[in-house]
Amino acid sequence: MSTQKKVAIACDHAGTELKKAVAAMLEKRGFAIEDFGTHGNDSVDYPDFASEVSRRVGSGDAAFGLLVCGTGIGMSIVANKYRGVRAALCHTEFEARATRQHNDANVLCLGERVVGLGLGVAIAEAFYDTQFEGGRHMRRVQKIADAEAENSR
Ligand code: RB5
Repeated sequence: MSTQKKVAIACDHAGTELKKAVAAMLEKRGFAIEDFGTHGNDSVDYPDFASEVSRRVGSGDAAFGLLVCGTGIGMSIVANKYRGVRAALCHTEFEARATRQHNDANVLCLGERVVGLGLGVAIAEAFYDTQFEGGRHMRRVQKIADAEAENSR
């Protein structure tokens, strides 16, 4: 599986349908998917799933991540605890494009109960289709890494 186009994905019980819809869209676009669950409707704990994806993105095993829960908030809080992860909770296509262009965000967090399936997939298309702009944004992203290093044990 190519690391360059690999997306590690996961959801909790409140995000299964949107995760499936985004996965289908990504596969059509040629991305390789690694799915860390959950697969059913049984109640699970979102931090367990956010951690699986964030470890893969933080280590470079996957280029990008996708995390879906009810609001996307819990997933984004957990994901941003991991070194090398820049997780963005997006509610609009504009935010999705901007966070790729400016923040080089590598994990997209979505709230299925907030955005639903149609908008959720459109946000994901915008996110994974957009490139980091570099330039002045490179310096700012480096400062994120500096802050992370300063605050890690
Ligand atoms: C699950 O009920 C819900 O708390 C979870 O999906 C998410 O919204 C947490 O942030």
